[in-house]
Amino acid sequence: MPDLSINFAGIKSPNPFWLASAPPTNSGYQVMKAFDAGWGGAVWKTLGVPVVNVSSRYGGVNYRDKRLIGFNNIELISDRPLSDNLREIEEVKKRFPHHAVIASLMVQSRQEWHDIVRASQDAGADGLELNFGCPHGMCERGMGSAVGQEPNVLRTIVEWVMEVATVPVIVKLTPNISDITEPALAARQGGANAISLINTIQSIVGVDLDQFSPYPIVDGQGTNGGYCGPAVKPIALNMVKNCAQHPGVQLPISGIGGIENWRDAVEHILLGASSVQVCTAAMHFGFGIIREMTSGLEQYMREKGFQTINDMVGRALPNVKHWEELNLHYKVTASINEQKCIGCQLCYTACEDGAHQAIRLNEGTRVPEIIDENCVGCNLCSLVCPVEECITMERRDDGTRHETWQQRTLAGNIPSEFEDERAGGRHHWVPEPAAALGKEKHKTLPGKARQFETVPASPQIVSE
Ligand SMILES: Cc1cc2nc3c(=O)[nH]c(=O)nc-3n(C[C@H](O)[C@H](O)[C@H](O)COP(=O)(O)O)c2cc1C
Ligand code: SF4
Ligand code: SF4
Repeated sequence: MPDLSINFAGIKSPNPFWLASAPPTNSGYQVMKAFDAGWGGAVWKTLGVPVVNVSSRYGGVNYRDKRLIGFNNIELISDRPLSDNLREIEEVKKRFPHHAVIASLMVQSRQEWHDIVRASQDAGADGLELNFGCPHGMCERGMGSAVGQEPNVLRTIVEWVMEVATVPVIVKLTPNISDITEPALAARQGGANAISLINTIQSIVGVDLDQFSPYPIVDGQGTNGGYCGPAVKPIALNMVKNCAQHPGVQLPISGIGGIENWRDAVEHILLGASSVQVCTAAMHFGFGIIREMTSGLEQYMREKGFQTINDMVGRALPNVKHWEELNLHYKVTASINEQKCIGCQLCYTACEDGAHQAIRLNEGTRVPEIIDENCVGCNLCSLVCPVEECITMERRDDGTRHETWQQRTLAGNIPSEFEDERAGGRHHWVPEPAAALGKEKHKTLPGKARQFETVPASPQIVSE
């Protein structure tokens, strides 16, 4: 039976699933309900200075029949009295001593930081999360992402916090920065015990075409907000990976961004996160999603033979390379399963207009045909095909040769001009421009043999 419990930088939790600091952790009522449902931890809605919120506050991006693939808010930190929040943290801890309660904090001066850190610790918080990520409202007041974007300021504040912290300190990073590892390094230099990422991405989710105002609308006007939900997962994963791979960061990572089910969580973990946090999915579907998350994770661990969460942390990192380290001899082409094909021809249109004219339509059938010689193996057709596993990408090289751009560069075997025999696109066949206007253009492009193996091996490199 896999063990889901974690010890994240000293914060213990029965499973790696924490609610992120946000409306679902606004009160003791919600956090107790969440723990009762199975969540392992909760990062309390950020405590700090007094604020006033606006109405409305949220905007959404719907895509076809799917609601809220992206979510946007212009909400500030907790507007509840600090004393109420602290009292409720204490109450939750008494009732759930083995669950993780982390106080998220955001204030300004050194004295304020000392005071709120001490108060949170006295209330029984297992850890602190410093909110250096909020990209609206608070940053105009010199807090939130305004700190996360200034590594020197961030380091100084972490140092202030570490002067009085007696529980683990997590620094929550903003993605609104070109290199996420800079604030991550500053957090480490300041003495933080862990980092969490990502907070929300500065955004405008849409504009009302009648009121000429961005969403969400506040009395006919709006402002940029913070973007989150399933749409931001790819950005979050990349940033988690960047921090996990950086040799100078070396801190436990709590992965946040677009986590909706156990698979999303596992992806964050495989790229280096050792706990995960969820906001939008809990706001959209409620606390009950935790049941599928824990059972799915447990099942996955059993299948893969992982005993603990630690066994999985960062398992995908060795396979995340720089482009120049990828094997130039690996070759795939598309293959259509005629039995599964429904003849929609979306693949044909995509390849014809958006890729490499490597799919042919033949008389008497709606099932397209791949022109193997033209297919560069870009994946586009398999991505647009609406039928699961109808188009698969099949390996065509024999797997015996391995050579990277880096190796070729070191061997002095890279093309220096377009006419160079070693240049990649040299043997790619494309139709003559005028063929686009021909009567038969929707029928068949002949397909012309091109050299299948476009990358001649470097004689100096021995295949692996
Ligand atoms: C309405 C709303 C309010 C939020 N408030 C806070 C906050 O007070 N403190 C904080 O650190 N993050 C806050 N966040 C950011 C979330 O904690 C989280 O970092 C972000 O939503 C990404 O996770 P998700 O894709 O699971 O939503 C808020 C997010 C939303 C949607
Ligand atoms: S997209 Fe898929 S289902 Fe549609 S024609 Fe192409 S192979 Fe067939
Ligand atoms: S993989 Fe790319 S090039 Fe090959 S058939 Fe599909 S879309 Fe065309």
